[in-house]
Amino acid sequence: MTKGRADYTGKENDYPSSYNLLSTTNVKGQIKYANSQFCEVAGFSLSELEGKPHNIVRHPTMPKAAFKNLWDYIEAGKPWMGMVKNRCKNGDHYWVNAFVTPIKGASGKIVEYQSVRTKPSREVVNRAESIYADLNNGVSPSKFTRASWSLSAQMMAIIIVFYALTMLSSSLSSPWNYLAETLLTLAVLFITYSRLAPVRSLSEKAKKVYDNPLMQKVYLKIRLMMSLL
Ligand SMILES: Cc1cc2nc3c(=O)[nH]c(=O)nc-3n(C[C@H](O)[C@H](O)[C@H](O)COP(=O)(O)O)c2cc1C
Repeated sequence: MTKGRADYTGKENDYPSSYNLLSTTNVKGQIKYANSQFCEVAGFSLSELEGKPHNIVRHPTMPKAAFKNLWDYIEAGKPWMGMVKNRCKNGDHYWVNAFVTPIKGASGKIVEYQSVRTKPSREVVNRAESIYADLNNGVSPSKFTRASWSLSAQMMAIIIVFYALTMLSSSLSSPWNYLAETLLTLAVLFITYSRLAPVRSLSEKAKKVYDNPLMQKVYLKIRLMMSLL
């Protein structure tokens, strides 16, 4: 902790959900500007923030991996969306849903970064708390960034396992019985695959809009599906 600053109180600053907390930085992450709502919630005056590294509001429980994820994206010229727990000057904290954008100059080079933050839902805060605690306890970020099975693959796997079990339990003495069950299973596989086409296309579109596996786990209920598998 920085000398002279209040300790961490564990108390959450519950700011109005209409607030947009804005700040801009240079390419090194030093604050150029913060709007009045940012200053009010963080408890700093603008002059206390200007020129300071943005980690002035860093909360000690934020995992390094979350900021690495942020910088990997923005330095590559891509926007980043993620959950951040910030520290107020008095030691309280506040959660934000941050959208950080690299701003490019005429030459195409990044000239500054801009972050707009809104108040997240309690459900997303709870998920972020849990995933960030795992990251702080040494769980590798790759556990969250590993591609999970697509919905189609999950359905196909369930049908194939069901088929194998049916084959085992039924009498295989009759080849007609065997053939009928195989044909039936192939028909179910085909129908399931074609019926899931709209879901696959929607999922591809969603990935194009925001392709960040770590933060997707924070924002979506994918963990539940993974734990069911
Ligand atoms: C535009 C922009 C906004 C940022 N906003 C925050 C923020 O609100 N809170 C925070 O802890 N870090 C923020 N960061 C990240 C910090 O620059 C820094 O990487 C982070 O606090 C971790 O600091 P450390 O590497 O010194 O531990 C922001 C970075 C940029 C470029």
